[in-house]
Amino acid sequence: MNEQILNATAKAMVAPGRGILAADESTGTIKKRFDKIGVENTEANRQAYRDMLFTTPGFEQHTSGVILFEETLFQKSLAGVPFPELLASKGVIPGIKVDKGAQPLAGGGLEETITEGLDGLRERLQKYKAAGARFAKWRAVITINEEAPSDYAIHVNAHALARYAALCQEADIVPIVEPEILMDGDNSIEVCEEVTDIVLDAVFAELSAQQVLLEGIVLKPNMVVPGIKCPEQASVQEVAEATLRVLKRRVPIAVPGIAFLSGGQSDELATAHLDSMNKIGGFTWGLTFSYGRALQAAALKAWGGSNVEAGKAAHLHRAKMNGLAALGQWDK
Ligand code: 13P
Repeated sequence: MNEQILNATAKAMVAPGRGILAADESTGTIKKRFDKIGVENTEANRQAYRDMLFTTPGFEQHTSGVILFEETLFQKSLAGVPFPELLASKGVIPGIKVDKGAQPLAGGGLEETITEGLDGLRERLQKYKAAGARFAKWRAVITINEEAPSDYAIHVNAHALARYAALCQEADIVPIVEPEILMDGDNSIEVCEEVTDIVLDAVFAELSAQQVLLEGIVLKPNMVVPGIKCPEQASVQEVAEATLRVLKRRVPIAVPGIAFLSGGQSDELATAHLDSMNKIGGFTWGLTFSYGRALQAAALKAWGGSNVEAGKAAHLHRAKMNGLAALGQWDK
């Protein structure tokens, strides 16, 4: 493990005013996105869509890295350049989603899941590194309902996240550690705060037990928000304060950066929350975005399968707004 390389990559991923584009939808997930705009889920269409995103002029000013799905890592742009090479030529770091998705937890019965993909990961990481990947992503999913999350689900997911992170660092690949607490329930913001606190505590305990170098990771957490079905929604200020409260308690300052997932928040709210936290300040980590839906929803709609220029304009706009929010300089 090369500690300097890991630390330098992690810092570059959360450089001031820049964040990460999560474009790592699996073939099944991108189908759901394409279905909404009536585009067929073919390899050619996936290539054309990702090409539109990655050739957006100027997006690199606000984008430090892009998370790719395996297919895209080994795919070429429409101009015939391998996508990781295209990104690297713009100063954008290529990354790779390495988990194999969340599967029902054995004997759970609480609609809980465990993320799979550890078998053969050491070998896959070598292949991804040779293709240009410098960081990776693994998403653990935690559900909130009347009985969940269970200690069982929290523990096994934290353990797997740490095993993945240790394997990445062995290969000099920065692990994005993503414990996502879903926001699709009817729970209050207070419950989300409590669960986020418990989960982050468990994740950092496992990272420490498995000797993961904290200076060489990027944390990708959810923000502390009420479930979308909760009748009482929270203000931007409340979300920013609750999220920072938990992060300040649970994330050591050795961690170079935190890059949030958007998790189903609207584009503008995801930007507003990030901006508000950076305006409040009082922390040492870089605090930025690693958005999927909140960066792509408008671009996907504008593109609609053929309108490349409109797609690029919508992508650039959101990248710019989130870049400003990462500096606490966004103005509605
Ligand atoms: P969202 O921002 O759409 O939540 O996606 C980010 C991501 O990478 C989830 O794993």
